[in-house]
Amino acid sequence: MTNVSSARPAPLERALPRTGERWSAVGLGTWLTFDINISDADAMAARREVLRSFFAGAGMLIDSSPMYGTAEQVLGELLGPTRAGAPLVAASKVWTPIGALGDAQMARSLAFWRLPRFDLMQVHNLLAWREHLKTLRRWKDEGRTRLLGVTTSHGSKHDEMERVLKAESPALEFMQITYSPVDRRAEPLMQMAADRGLGVIVNRPFDGGALLRRLAREPLPGVARELECWTWAALVLKWELAFPPVTCVIPATTRADHVTQNLAAMHGPLPDTRQRAALTALFARLIG
Ligand SMILES: NC(=O)c1ccc[n+]([C@@H]2O[C@H](COP(=O)([O-])OP(=O)(O)OC[C@H]3O[C@@H](n4cnc5c(N)ncnc54)[C@H](OP(=O)(O)O)[C@@H]3O)[C@@H](O)[C@H]2O)c1
Repeated sequence: MTNVSSARPAPLERALPRTGERWSAVGLGTWLTFDINISDADAMAARREVLRSFFAGAGMLIDSSPMYGTAEQVLGELLGPTRAGAPLVAASKVWTPIGALGDAQMARSLAFWRLPRFDLMQVHNLLAWREHLKTLRRWKDEGRTRLLGVTTSHGSKHDEMERVLKAESPALEFMQITYSPVDRRAEPLMQMAADRGLGVIVNRPFDGGALLRRLAREPLPGVARELECWTWAALVLKWELAFPPVTCVIPATTRADHVTQNLAAMHGPLPDTRQRAALTALFARLIG
């Protein structure tokens, strides 16, 4: 389990609906932010600090994909020196429209991460999901991934996701989808996934960063103090985590100080119904 100092209450973890194991409620995305030139020493040093802060702050889930350029190779280089025995939940994706290529692509991802198995393997953007899910089930049987999931983002393919949930829920542990105060279209699907026993991973929790750039012009509201939030980033993540279907949010960043701000959402109270309603109205006013 996570290492926590005795002086501070344990960070927020969420139990997985199917297995009961507990994951940190804030994880780390790697799209764009970890797609760097591996021979660029300064860029690598900055990602090393991101990962050090992440594990030191009890973060667990790291999400990547073959779509994210060099991200998986960068993780493979840096996880060993930064983890220091901390728990890692390794999540990647299969991302090819050709079902027959999935097996080799996932094997390449495992080699990039330098791991014997993934914790979670997801079908990226529902590409060729029927074929890939067959391969993923075999991977699970062979012990090369523990859990299976499907993803979409940016509000796209929601009809198809609904069909997948209706047909495949018993074989899945996770759905990953875009959700934030500026994009609440996924709420019905998130509820449906939770009702069917799936965990829900939230991607693009900051709308790719645009949400925080807009909120940065505004003072934090009084409710932030009640929730022990000192940044808009933590407040936004707490608003997302207070939606009951959510298991984990996966903000991406290039900066160690931003990792610390984001992991702060795992400390102090989550918004109750009144506080969440007040925040929902505030976000609608500020960004609507
Ligand atoms: N279909 C899919 O499966 C799918 C699609 C999209 C995303 N994803 C996953 O979801 C992850 C997250 O989504 P995303 O990367 O698109 O966007 P995001 O996490 O909503 O936003 C990332 C941006 O937020 C900024 N940021 C992070 N923390 C901050 C803080 N505390 N203060 C100010 N700015 C902050 C980062 O800039 P700095 O570097 O300056 O911190 C970065 O530019 C991805 O990385 C990926 O792993 C999956």
